[in-house]
Amino acid sequence: MIGALEELQKQAEAEINRAKTEEEILAIKTKYLGRKGLLTHLLRNIKELSPDERPGFGKRSNEVKEALSEQIENSIKEKASQKKSKALICEKIDVTLPGRGVKHGRVHPVVQVLEEICRIFMKLGFSTVEGPEIELDYYNFEALNIPKNHPARDMQDTFYIEENIVLRTHTSPVQVRIMEKHRPPVRILSPGRVYRPDSDITHTPMFHQIEGLLVDRGVTFGDLKGALTTFIKQFFGDATALRFRPSFFPFTEPSAEVDIQCVMCHGAGCRVCGHSGWLEILGAGMVDPEVFKNVGYDAEEFTGFAFGLGLERIAMLKYGITDIRLFFENDWRFLEQF
Ligand code: FA5
Repeated sequence: MIGALEELQKQAEAEINRAKTEEEILAIKTKYLGRKGLLTHLLRNIKELSPDERPGFGKRSNEVKEALSEQIENSIKEKASQKKSKALICEKIDVTLPGRGVKHGRVHPVVQVLEEICRIFMKLGFSTVEGPEIELDYYNFEALNIPKNHPARDMQDTFYIEENIVLRTHTSPVQVRIMEKHRPPVRILSPGRVYRPDSDITHTPMFHQIEGLLVDRGVTFGDLKGALTTFIKQFFGDATALRFRPSFFPFTEPSAEVDIQCVMCHGAGCRVCGHSGWLEILGAGMVDPEVFKNVGYDAEEFTGFAFGLGLERIAMLKYGITDIRLFFENDWRFLEQF
């Protein structure tokens, strides 16, 4: 059996010398020294030796075990250090190479316009609030004086989630939510996403609006004109001509739409303004007493004005963009111009 032990040691040493990787060495360790390994197996047969031979065999076995363990540990260390040196060579960084340029992100043009509009109205004392994009039919329509089956619902095509839940078609429902919770004076601005099943060069299924609402004692249409004129002159420039045109919204009475002189042709008439010289930018009006009734305000005591503008439309005019869909394509060549 001593012969078999010597043979086993020689064989194991040869295998250790041949091994190329740490994984191979670990396999050899298991093969010879593991619980079911060859050396362990040999030791189990010690009982076949005579009592005189056993101590000598036991001692030699331990020597072989220790010698093999040491060789295996050394070999593992050597392989690990070889692996590390190889990795260091492969991953060597040439610090003298020129770096790759990092592209800077920009604030999206729609957000730039949003921030500028908010800044102007904040100077007029408005503060910003938000409302939900998934809205109850009640807030989006009914409380705004647009009952079910009323023809005014056709003014805004709607994405329905359930019979009484919609993706809001405008930011006007925020007016109702705010008035339900706060007594006048109210002076808020509410920007956000709105949704309508529309798509062409001036319409997208998702777009942004900003709602404005001011309610107090003695608020007049003159205040509405003053606030919107101040905003338009500050945003588009002092020389910009504007006009208030009578219009209809179920939640304001009287209602108006505001046009600015075409920024492309300065009123001469062109393709962008349909040769009229004017461009519509927002809807507005005095809050309808019916809406006040729905939120528990006394229409004899309070009056107010509201307005709603399409942000993309305003951004298109400001920057001379002719297709609204460019805002949502995320084309870097378009976005980096702002
Ligand atoms: C409204 O949505 C009213 N809530 C505005 C309002 C508020 C009136 C408060 C009175 C008082 P209108 O449907 O006209 O109104 O939309 C307002 C603006 O949103 C339009 O002037 C237009 O600039 C923009 N708009 C409408 N549909 C789209 C669309 N599909 N894509 C991009 N912009 C749109």
